[in-house]
Amino acid sequence: MTSPQRCKNLDLVEQDYGGRPLEQRESHQYEKEYVQSFVEKWDELIDWEGRAKGEGRFFVELLQRRGKQKVLDVATGTGFHSVQLLKSGFEVASVDGSAQMLSQAFQNARDHNFILRTTLADWRWLNRDVHEKYDAIICLGNSFTHLFSERDRRRTLAEFYAALRHDGILILDQRNYDAILDVGFDAKKHTYYYCGESVSAQPDHVDEGLCRFRYDFSDGQTFYLNMFPLRKEYTRNLLMEVGFTAVETYGDFQQTHREEEPDFFIHVAEKTYNP
Ligand SMILES: C[S@@+](CC[C@H](N)C(=O)[O-])C[C@H]1O[C@@H](n2cnc3c(N)ncnc32)[C@H](O)[C@@H]1O
Repeated sequence: MTSPQRCKNLDLVEQDYGGRPLEQRESHQYEKEYVQSFVEKWDELIDWEGRAKGEGRFFVELLQRRGKQKVLDVATGTGFHSVQLLKSGFEVASVDGSAQMLSQAFQNARDHNFILRTTLADWRWLNRDVHEKYDAIICLGNSFTHLFSERDRRRTLAEFYAALRHDGILILDQRNYDAILDVGFDAKKHTYYYCGESVSAQPDHVDEGLCRFRYDFSDGQTFYLNMFPLRKEYTRNLLMEVGFTAVETYGDFQQTHREEEPDFFIHVAEKTYNP
């Protein structure tokens, strides 16, 4: 189902921060950020080839090791992970709250000879529109940090939990905001996620309640994303508090501790209850 609010936002041609960008700290702001012109540039930012190289078979092997087959990609974006998983033989359903993103994802999947099963849905009321249960849910690309209030984060995680089978897993990633908040952003490090060489991506403003990223493209276009700077331990605790029974956190696809601070954390939360 599509709400009238979302239909209206389909017409937005420019990102809309109401003239007060640092004050926009709402979970629904994403609807006014992924305007068509930004969505069309998204693949230049993430660079499918570079990203596939950076991630390797991390997600495929993680899912295969646990015997997971039916996957819900809740932050489909332009379809990168949905397509990677389809290529590896997983059954995939693709959700996003942005119609522009889903439409681009559908086209990208067509270009790879797949027909994407898409659902337009907001995570906060996911189960209104998604009725099947899944072995795994993936929420990747720093997407969860679009949620600004703890209420929305709890609500979303509860919706994800409910859409999983009894032994399902949630794979959710986030930028290393601890490092950004405490040390500063290292602009040289974008090896794994946002790989496009012709795009500069860095924070324009950082405080404990907002990390506003600025994306400068080679053709002179600039876009922004307002994100909530989640701290790693906060996310891990929240996952446990909503009912997941174990959380394992990887840094940049590595299990072992490295000298360097990771750019991204990947949390794998288990639903299975082992009394
Ligand atoms: C940073 S993009 C990441 C896209 C993709 N996973 C990637 O890594 O390229 C975040 C995505 O999450 C979606 N999103 C953000 N908040 C959402 C919400 N509350 N409900 C549904 N989708 C949401 C956006 O529309 C966008 O496509």
